[in-house]
Amino acid sequence: MTQRLIVVSNRVNPPAGEGEESVGGLAMALAAALKAYSGVWFGWSGQTTPEFTGELNVQEVGGVTAATVDLESIDVDEYYTGYANKTLWPLFHYRTDLAAFDRAFGEGYRRVNRRFAETLRPLIRPDDLIWAHDYHLIPLARELRALGVKNRIGFFLHVPWPAHQVMINLPRHRQLVEAMFDYDLVGFQTAEYQQAFEEYVLNEAQGVTLPGGGLRAFGRLLEVGHFPIGLDAADFARMTKTSRARRMRDLMTACTVFRHLIVGVDRLDYSKGLEERFLGFETFLTQNPDLRREVLMLQIAPPSRESVEAYQEIRGRLDALSGRINGEFADVDWAPFRWVNRNYRRDELAGIYGAARVGLVTPLRDGMNLVAKEYVAAQDPADPGVLILSRFAGAARQMGDALLVNPHSPEEIADALERALAMEKAERIRRWRALAETVANEDVTGWRDNFVAALAGKGALRPAALAT
Ligand code: ADP
Ligand code: F6P
Repeated sequence: MTQRLIVVSNRVNPPAGEGEESVGGLAMALAAALKAYSGVWFGWSGQTTPEFTGELNVQEVGGVTAATVDLESIDVDEYYTGYANKTLWPLFHYRTDLAAFDRAFGEGYRRVNRRFAETLRPLIRPDDLIWAHDYHLIPLARELRALGVKNRIGFFLHVPWPAHQVMINLPRHRQLVEAMFDYDLVGFQTAEYQQAFEEYVLNEAQGVTLPGGGLRAFGRLLEVGHFPIGLDAADFARMTKTSRARRMRDLMTACTVFRHLIVGVDRLDYSKGLEERFLGFETFLTQNPDLRREVLMLQIAPPSRESVEAYQEIRGRLDALSGRINGEFADVDWAPFRWVNRNYRRDELAGIYGAARVGLVTPLRDGMNLVAKEYVAAQDPADPGVLILSRFAGAARQMGDALLVNPHSPEEIADALERALAMEKAERIRRWRALAETVANEDVTGWRDNFVAALAGKGALRPAALAT
């Protein structure tokens, strides 16, 4: 019998209606991964309550039992807005300049992880596998162990793990890493992030690597691995063929007649490299007067985490930059840039990607980046577009046939745009085929199955020293 899987993440987005919008790689991937499991998905409801009670809201959606809990607004301020998004997010994305170190945030973070553990405890059966997700929940296993939970517990980090020298900027970094040793298995998106974690453990915690893999530190053993997350590729391929996707593709094609569409789709986040991308497009327009009328750049970026100041500021800067580009280059009958700040249904997004000759995905740092994979999955095999991808997205490890760029360099982005627009169909097809194969083969089902098998002790990962 398959073991029951309990998934824990800050946000819980059970599969919604056909094509319905929901932003964020984690929510997309987990909704897809859980569809096949009769498991439980536990996390924050997104609502606040005057006093935390631990009362569960249980909902059955699309074969998934979603169990959520309300938090007090001080919890949200200190744990979600504070420690998760003002401390860990910037630090893990190499923005130490934006990271706030406030003791109250750390206390709120621990308190909420304890509250999650206490609320989840009664739902856990002895044979369940427990799988916690992302930087909001690093100490969850520690809190569950304190309550006597003996089950196998795994953790997957969706965002980058930073280099050792960056990590040590975090006050009490050792405590945070020590808590990770209460998991049985910790997974990263790429080998590079796994190595950075191992380097930290070897250097800061006098840890040792075990023959065949795994780590010993803080008096405990831990399995580690990398599991690149993917799309629900079959579902996305199906979505590209829906009437809504086709209609959107036709609409976008109609409004870019005689012009090539360049598209970017991201949450409005400073890690996504939007300012540098806009400057790259501006440089491209400056360097290529003859191509100006042949392109339209569409950047879709719905607001995200608006309670954090750094996110409010970036919006203003991008509004100004997009206005400057259009002011500088637009004509009475034409403008080069479209800047849109709202969510779209997934089938509509598929149609937009499908109409674009270039997918411009240039985060300064990104754990994986699913938009890059969605762009590839939405292309017409007979006439595919070109993916321009940041070297610093986890996806670059698997997608070497994209045009890889340094996202900090507007010149490199401009050159890549020039190259993509000039690329012959034969080369576009050759590159796309290689990318599409990766996207189809290394999908979210494989990601889930590999992680769950390793957590259950049945994966190829399990080193002899950890076998029970
Ligand atoms: P992150 O998890 O940092 O947001 P990813 O690229 O991994 O980055 O995942 C983003 C997900 O959110 C993708 O599935 C993408 O389709 C979705 N998304 C991004 N922008 C929008 C939007 N405007 N409307 C709907 N979905 C969006
Ligand atoms: O993948 C990174 C991530 O932080 C996810 O954990 C999250 O679902 C997504 O980005 C959106 O962020 P938030 O939940 O803060 O809106």
